This record gives sequence, structure tokens and C-alpha cells, in this order.
Amino acid sequence: MNKISIQIVLAIALICGTELSALAKNKNHKSIDERVDSLLSLMTIDEKIGQTVLFTSRWDVTGPILRDGEEEAIRTGKCGNVFNAHTAAYTRKLQELAVNETRLGIPLLFGYDVIHGHQTLSPISLGESASWDLDLIEKSAQMAAREASACGIHWTFAPMCDIGRDPRWGRVSEGAGEDTYLGSQIGAARVKGFQGDNIANQNTVAACVKHMAAYGAAQAGRDYHSVDMSERVLRETYLPPYKAAVDAGAKTVMTSFNDLDGVPATANSFLLKDILRNEWGFNGMVVTDYTAINELIPHGVAEDEYHAGILAMKAGVDMDMEGGIYMDHLKKAVENKDVDLSELDNAVRNILRLKFELGIMDDPYKYCNEELESKEVLSTENRNTAYEMAVASCVLLKNENKVLPLSKEEKIAVIGPLANSKRDLLGSWKAAGKPQSVEQTILDAIIANSSKGNVKFALGCGVSKPSKEGFAKAIDIASKSDKIVMVMGEKWNMSGEAACRTNLDFPGVQKELILEISKLNKPVVLVFMTGRSMTIENESNLVDALMNVWYPGTEGGRAVADLLFGHKIPSGKLTMTMPRNVGQIPIFYNYKNTGRPFNPNKPKDTYKSRYLDVANTPLYEFGYGLSYSTLSYSEISLSKNIFEKGKNIIASVKLTNTGDFDADEVVQLYIHDQVASVTRPVKELKAFDKIHLKKGETKTLTFTIDEEMLKFFRKDMSYGAEEGNFTLFIGGSSATQNSIEFELTGVSK
Ligand code: NOJ
Repeated sequence: MNKISIQIVLAIALICGTELSALAKNKNHKSIDERVDSLLSLMTIDEKIGQTVLFTSRWDVTGPILRDGEEEAIRTGKCGNVFNAHTAAYTRKLQELAVNETRLGIPLLFGYDVIHGHQTLSPISLGESASWDLDLIEKSAQMAAREASACGIHWTFAPMCDIGRDPRWGRVSEGAGEDTYLGSQIGAARVKGFQGDNIANQNTVAACVKHMAAYGAAQAGRDYHSVDMSERVLRETYLPPYKAAVDAGAKTVMTSFNDLDGVPATANSFLLKDILRNEWGFNGMVVTDYTAINELIPHGVAEDEYHAGILAMKAGVDMDMEGGIYMDHLKKAVENKDVDLSELDNAVRNILRLKFELGIMDDPYKYCNEELESKEVLSTENRNTAYEMAVASCVLLKNENKVLPLSKEEKIAVIGPLANSKRDLLGSWKAAGKPQSVEQTILDAIIANSSKGNVKFALGCGVSKPSKEGFAKAIDIASKSDKIVMVMGEKWNMSGEAACRTNLDFPGVQKELILEISKLNKPVVLVFMTGRSMTIENESNLVDALMNVWYPGTEGGRAVADLLFGHKIPSGKLTMTMPRNVGQIPIFYNYKNTGRPFNPNKPKDTYKSRYLDVANTPLYEFGYGLSYSTLSYSEISLSKNIFEKGKNIIASVKLTNTGDFDADEVVQLYIHDQVASVTRPVKELKAFDKIHLKKGETKTLTFTIDEEMLKFFRKDMSYGAEEGNFTLFIGGSSATQNSIEFELTGVSK
């Protein structure tokens, strides 16, 4: 071809390109799927591969930046998606590159880890779960979505639906605790909050259910470690929260870093195709975790990057986060027929569909609205939601001699390395949150609640430093006070990703300081921040009151002080068992009875399932948490004791607020299947309700028990209930013994 004909061909291609692109995005096509297919038919293989690429932008001291070559990758359509870029102005700038400079003008998708808020932060996710308040959790996710979407974000990498039963694993802070049922409810609530009714609405973001699958079961609680479990446990305990989030409409799913039964999740077609797509009917987009395709090499299942890319694509991974493997190797793999073009097309379809659903194909700058951004970020409404969430999530574990609530007339010594920290209030995954947006630390808020001059503060010690230099001042102010409030715990970065610990005691010399202060024989309130269950048995014996406040977020200082002074009443309950020591881990409430259960009333029995050196029971059990008030449960009554297949029974209980304060109580219903074809847990949470009771008030609560609640994976792995006797418990924690029996009949064995 001579130069002129080349120029003519190029000119035609250019004209056609523009026309076709317009046509592809034309709304005359009826459905999104038709629009997707129309666009796909115009794309070159390079353009298709570009859509499967997700790269991070970074934040420099002076603001957001792209790495060398990344801008070029966007301009040339090699990178179709970006994460960690935010603000309306910056995302607009990047969007212009994609829209104006690539041939088809397909907009970028902007993702970000908006986990417990964007700039206004709620408590960390584990803390939120301790509220057991699904409406509030949904509202908190909605708030995060409103803020993030006003700052250019389309897509959040949340909710994390990994069951967390090992507090050594730092990422338990990002989940909803140890329980499958509660975790499923919370996963679904978060998806609803993020996505609203329609992700085309500007104030929503697409959710990403992560990490598929069983990431929380990492061996020995070490992040990224292997996972191996029976299919029964996988299906019964670990998968349901992901499924609940998918059923709630989540648009995307992220693969996990771990291998499962020898196959890394990112190359695992059993998880990503058989279960996710075929069994659950998921038709959204699957993204890897950060460089997870590359990690197939050290996992030892891929020889090189080329091979890794093939494994991931064949397993059903649509988008490559950060690894660049699809960008560098997919074309060759398609040319070599190691990957079928239809596999690539399917991946691209899943990605384009999301872009159409978000509305960015029609209006790429829809989420880049600076006016809205300045209105939304840290708005009073958002701060109020974060405050409400923080109040609801703190868990009062001990309150002897009614040392709490505090009164403004008391002289208070505030001691501890976390009392006056803004950064720690925010926890890990603070997204775009800034410490300077925190208006009050816990210390500030205690001062604001006290009469002038009544509060003295001493750091006492650092979080992990060995120095005891600060002890003297702390002891001095403590000895001159009426009550002592110690604010201790783990720093914000001691939990979260890659933040695993084998020692879950208070770090550094904090334990020694608590011991020294307790020797003064003054009332001590220990407020602690953490992203996991810690081992604090000694300290809990040394102090009068104990409150777990997690990392309570932007408004956490105010919330904690309002609880300490009784302006608000604690109502959180643990969603993760607190062990007595690390040796008990993994410890969770719904364990199996074993053939040799230990009976604490017969401590001399030998050859029982027990430890010689510590009780089997936890320090504080799942579902446990106190109020300033006291609550009393009646016996349970049932509408009938025999439960026929296909029918329901109603369980009811009366709850009375017998104390001196109005209160919120999390009423929990557990069921135990007494005899089944496989061993069943000693009890399983099947329903709960958080209710408000005025001082002196009695309410009757009813729960409908249906057959669905009795189902499990039977011996032959079919899912269903079995005839026989069940025990039903209703109470204020998983240790409740308030129970009644019923029988299920009419089900074939
Ligand atoms: C790695 C984490 O495992 C994942 O949860 C997160 O969404 C990505 N990095 C992106 O930041």
C-alpha cells in the first residue's frame, strides 16, 4: 500500500471510529447488554485488553500523581480503570484523558477502598458490626457512598465478607466478626447502603464483595497464608456472607490472595465459575486483589507471568488489579489460542456492563462535581451518622460498683497513649479521611463534659515503646483524682492488612502501667482501642470498668465521652469472642460438642476435651455486652412444640428493663440441632433484634422459626433439615441458657 492509500485507510478508520463509538454509546439500543455488545463489536483486541487493566494512582505530598507511563497508558487505552484516585477535580482530569484521547472514548472506572467511610469515618467495620444495627450499618455505608461518589469514586472495594475467627489475623478489623448469619446480614446491609436501589444514581457506588473465598481462615492467623478446609465448612461457614452480599445485588467480587485446597483463589474456577457464576447466578465483574495474578508464580502454580495470566482468565477473572499481566500477556495468549477470544470478550462485557450501569458511558463526568463534593464532604449529616454509629458500636464489658457513668463534678485523671490521638481514632483504611478533620479526641471530649479544671492528663507511656518515664506523672495525677480513665490499646496500624500478631496483649509497657495505676485502689475505667479481640484477662481483673471502643472514627471522641458520662447508654455486643489467651485461638461460640465434652461442674474428670492450664470458656463471649441498665428475660414460650414440615412456629419472650436507665438490647436467638447425620454446633445464631426499652418497660418479642433456619449440609452434602429435637435459646449473649425444646417432624431422613 502506498503512503496515500495508507492515509485514506487511516482517515476512514478515524471517521468510522468516531461514528461507531457514538453509535455504540447510542441510547437507541434497548438494553445495556445490547449496548455492551455493540461497543464490543467495535473494539480491537488491544482496546479490549485495556478494559481489563486496573492501575493505582498514588498520592504524593503535594497531591495525586500517576506513575511514569501511566498517563500514557490511559491515553492509549492500555489502562481502562484506576483506583486510589479521588477528588472531583483529579478524577475529571484523568477522565478527560480517557474520554478525549482514546479512540472509543470509553471512560475510566474509579475504584477506592471506601471501607468505613470516605472522609467522614465511621468506626472500623468490626466495630460497626458490634452495633448489631443493620439499619444503621446500611446508613453508614450510604453515607460513605454519598461522600465518595461526590469525590469522583464509582466503585468501593467493600464489603469485606470474610469470617474472622482468628484475632491474630489483622484483617478481622475489616469484617463483621466470627458469625456466618450475622456476617451475611451485615454484608447485605452494606451492599444496599453502598449501591442504593440503582447504581446509576449519582450518590451511590458499586460494591465489591471480598475476598472470595475463605481469606479469613488463613493458617495460624498469618495474612495471605494458605487455607484448607472441608467443603462442608466452606459452604456452611465461610461462603454464605459472600453469597448474601451477591444476592443483595453487589456488582463486583474480588478474589482472595489465599489458596484453597491447593488452588489459589485467583486461579480457582471452582470458586469463580462453579459456585459464583453457576450456583449463585452472579453476572457482575470479578476483579483480582492487588497483583494476585502475579502471585500465582510464588504460589507455585504458574511458571511465569504468561502462564499466570492464562490461569486467571480461564478461572473467570475479568480484571487484573495492578499486576499488568493481562496488559502484557493476554494478546499473545489469545493469538496462541491459549485463551479463547470469547473468554476475553466475556470479561470485557462484564466490565463494560458495569460502566453502562453506573451511567458513566453516557456522562463520564457524572461523579466529578466539585460543588457537590464540597457540600458532601464532612457535612453535618455525615458527621452525625458517624457519631451515631460510634455510639452504637462501643461495647461495655465490665462496670463494677457502677463506676460508670462518670459525673462532671468528679476529678478525672485521663491517662494513656491513645487518649489524645486523632489519627488512631480513624483506624486502618481511613480512605481519604484526615486526622485534622477530627474535632475532638477522647481527651478533648472528656474535658468538654467535665467541670472546668476537673480533668488532668498524662500520657503515661507510648503504645509499644519500652520507656516508663511517663509513669511517675501518670501515678501522680491519678492519685489526686476521684476516678481514672485509661485510654490504651493497639495503634491504628496494628491491625488491618498484613498486621498480624501472635501476642494479643496490650503492647509495650501498657500492662505495667495499668498494674501500677490499679495499685492506687481508685476506680479505674479502661477504655481500649483495637481492631481485633485482644487478650486482656489480667487487665480486666485489675480495673472496675472496661469499654472496647474499637477505632471509633471521626466523631469517636465525642461518642466515647458521651457514653462515659451517660449521655448515651452503651448497647454494643461483641461479634468476635474474646479469648483468655492466644493458646485458645481459634475460639468461637458455635463450636462442636465433641465426643468428650468437658463439664465444668466436674472439674476432676480426666480425658475430656479441655486445657489443663486454662478454662475452655472465653473471657467474654460472642454476643456479650453490658448496658448501664439491667435487663431481664422471661422464659421462652412457643406457639407449639411440634413443628411440622412447611409450617412455622413462633417463639416469644418478654424482656424487662429492670435498671435505672433507658436501654437498647440486642436480643439473640440461637438453635441447636440435638441429633443429626453430621455433628452440629452447640448453638447457632439464627435471628436477632435490637430493641429500645425505657426504664421499667417490658416488651414481648416474637420470632418466627421456619424450616430454613434448621437447614445444613447433611451427611450426603444435600442441604436441608432433618427430623428430630432442637433446642432454642433466647437471651442477651451466646452464653444464654434460657432455652426450650421443639421437635421437627415430617421431613424425610
Ligand atoms: C489489597 C487488599 O487485600 C484489598 O482488600 C484491597 O481492596 C486492595 N489491596 C486495594 O487496595
